[in-house]
Amino acid sequence: MSRVVSLTGTPGTGKTTIAGHLAGMGWQTIELTELARRQGAVVGRDENRQTDEVDVDLLSDAVAMEVRSLPTVGNILLVSHLSHLMTCDQVVVLRTSPRTLRQRLEARGWPESKVRENLEAEAVGVILVEAMELEPAVPVLEADTTSEGPDVTANRIANALDGGEADLEAGRVDWSEEVMEWY
Ligand SMILES: Nc1ncnc2c1ncn2[C@@H]1O[C@H](COP(=O)(O)OP(=O)(O)OP(=O)(O)O)[C@@H](O)[C@H]1O
Ligand SMILES: [Mg+2]
Repeated sequence: MSRVVSLTGTPGTGKTTIAGHLAGMGWQTIELTELARRQGAVVGRDENRQTDEVDVDLLSDAVAMEVRSLPTVGNILLVSHLSHLMTCDQVVVLRTSPRTLRQRLEARGWPESKVRENLEAEAVGVILVEAMELEPAVPVLEADTTSEGPDVTANRIANALDGGEADLEAGRVDWSEEVMEWY
């Protein structure tokens, strides 16, 4: 059977970029945003937050169907800030320092309210906490994409998932010092 790995993290932490590198290494990748639209799991639009509203249960069903349709060899990568909420064997959470994340999100032309909401989520590690609290528990790795290039991060993730030493144990990333400068 294939191993299903969920690549998650706050928007802008680098999921799609890293997924591109892992696809180049032969991983089968599924972008859940695209799948959600295609399979009718987008159920509304939050205009204030400028985000699509996704029905997580509908998306889970669509993911399960999609996974079943893929060849049962190699690794399957679910790519989305919702991917850790899907049935999977392993979660990888990408993290980025809020200062660097601000630059990436501003470069997308996002309004300040949307940038700020995501910086705050990253600062307190909302997605990491959600992943660590999953029941039944799923192994969680955490990779910092602030300073190194995507190719380096992708290699580190691939090595860690193959059982290598890669220092990606969850719980090492901590933005509290940087966040204290906000006050
Ligand atoms: N080590 C790294 N890993 C991944 N991306 C990086 C890294 N260093 C810099 N970047 C840059 O950060 C940006 C990440 O954007 P990307 O679209 O991949 O994020 P995302 O997590 O998929 O966002 P979204 O949730 O909105 O889809 C890219 O411009 C990428 O080049
Ligand atoms: Mg993306």
